[in-house]
Amino acid sequence: MPVHLETPSPGHAKAFLEAVHRSRSLHRGLVSPPRDRERYREYLDRCSRSTNEGHLVCLADGELVGVINVSEIVRGVFQSAYLGFYAFAPHQGQGHMSAGLGLVIASAFRKSHLHRLEANIQPKNLRSIALVKRLGFRLEGLSPRYLKISGRWRDHERWAITIEDWRGRRAGAQPWMRYAGTIETGDPRASQKIDHVVYRRKD
Ligand SMILES: CC(C)(COP(=O)(O)OP(=O)(O)OC[C@H]1O[C@@H](n2cnc3c(N)ncnc32)[C@H](O)[C@@H]1OP(=O)(O)O)[C@@H](O)C(=O)NCCC(=O)NCCS
Repeated sequence: MPVHLETPSPGHAKAFLEAVHRSRSLHRGLVSPPRDRERYREYLDRCSRSTNEGHLVCLADGELVGVINVSEIVRGVFQSAYLGFYAFAPHQGQGHMSAGLGLVIASAFRKSHLHRLEANIQPKNLRSIALVKRLGFRLEGLSPRYLKISGRWRDHERWAITIEDWRGRRAGAQPWMRYAGTIETGDPRASQKIDHVVYRRKD
């Protein structure tokens, strides 16, 4: 089923908060979406700034199936931003987030003129890792104790895509090659985990 993107507005509040409520077990320990009217208002406020974009992934009938945020947009020589996302139950696992992310990535590169998007994902969050991998993101490294989620500092993998990766992927090219190497993080478990999965550009 095709999806489209809507900009979060006060009119979405009821449906949004109900969707967050019924998705608690899907989100637990992974993301902390706005869960009441006040936090939703704060979210709308953040989305209205030039450094942030919020996107609701919707079905043709307006049903909310997920959220994708492009945040902390830095301009100048960086032109980069963070990507955050979560699906809403019971619509997960049906390809809607892949489709929605495809639209957001295209918009970030074409309309917002970004050069790079970065998604930070907990190593055990295999669904999210599979999702960004399918979309052409590559693993850049591991950040130990990176984000405090549900009261705990949690390690995250840093996945990123540049406009060149995205264009190359669309043209069927493979601009990246596998490179055997290790990123030393000071954490032996982390260093081991990301052994042989560093990518570098093919000359
Ligand atoms: C990660 C998350 C957003 C993925 O959402 P999703 O709805 O499962 O995403 P999609 O359905 O687009 O993912 C594709 C999956 O659907 C399947 N799928 C089913 N029908 C499909 C279709 N028509 N087209 C494409 N994929 C389809 C794919 O095979 C794939 O399954 P697999 O991963 O088992 O191989 C969701 O699990 C979630 O909200 N998790 C909690 C929050 C979270 O972790 N956020 C990220 C924090 S970094």
